[in-house]
Amino acid sequence: METLEEQIAALKKDRRAVILAHNYERAEVQDVADFTGDSLELARKAATADADVIVFCGVYFMAETAAILNPGRTVLIPDPTAGCPMADMITGEQLRELKTRHPGAAAVCYVNSTAEVKAECDICVTSGNAERVMARFPKDREIIFVPDRHLGSHVAAKLGTQYILWPGYCPTHARLTAKQIADARAAHPGATVMVHPECPQEVRDAADKCLSTGGMCAYARESPDTEFIVGTELGILHRLRNENPGKTFHPAAQLVCPNMKKTTLEKVRDALLNMETRVAVPEDVAMRAKRAIDAMLAAG
Ligand code: 13P
Ligand code: SF4
Repeated sequence: METLEEQIAALKKDRRAVILAHNYERAEVQDVADFTGDSLELARKAATADADVIVFCGVYFMAETAAILNPGRTVLIPDPTAGCPMADMITGEQLRELKTRHPGAAAVCYVNSTAEVKAECDICVTSGNAERVMARFPKDREIIFVPDRHLGSHVAAKLGTQYILWPGYCPTHARLTAKQIADARAAHPGATVMVHPECPQEVRDAADKCLSTGGMCAYARESPDTEFIVGTELGILHRLRNENPGKTFHPAAQLVCPNMKKTTLEKVRDALLNMETRVAVPEDVAMRAKRAIDAMLAAG
């Protein structure tokens, strides 16, 4: 009897498929993936994948981004109900209405948004490139930033400006408190505190580093620090510990994104076996959303 991992490996070869996984996926799912990364790294991989099929282990907007960047390829999501509540906090209609109230403003969306919202935007950003991309706008330019008010206010503060923010947020990161950071520091004095920009401001202020998940992996690898407190979803600990055997990582709190945990090895196997569920984006929406994603990828 073949293991699930063996079944997945065989099916992957038959289908000429590549498996991409986000840093928050279950450890065993990360282990069968060809590439694990943050939203920006996964978008880049999706854009250059040499495969007929992309199995995207993450939440829906990520698979949708991969589908938009690969109109000729099949993109499968093992569990199509794995959504991102933050992405669903604004609709295309709500953004259109906001734009009519600020007619001269540029519209920027966090990649954690639906294709319909991306289609209304000039450019999108991820937590890995937001500061770099937003620095290209003149300081006095009016900018609408959706849906994450925390990432938006973090970048605006870094660049010494203000944006018109949508009140969206990540329910998982919103649970982290400054008190939990203080308690973790007291338990592990000397450890470097890394948090995600989706955390509330008082948590970001209490941290040493505010980084995307890919940024956390790079920082842990490259810095001389050996002990870290990690303020983001628990799934990333698997990668941090694997890549840095001599270093110690403590979760700041038990943060779990239930949607990221919906993807299991059984569902990855079934996705490849049944070639389901295919991610499809209406062509006109995909075309307009692609402009915003391409603008981001071109910005570096
Ligand atoms: P990253 O791009 O930093 O991986 O963030 C994606 C995300 O959904 C964080 O909650
Ligand atoms: Fe969305 Fe938050 Fe889950 Fe990231 S962690 S996918 S922002 S709900």
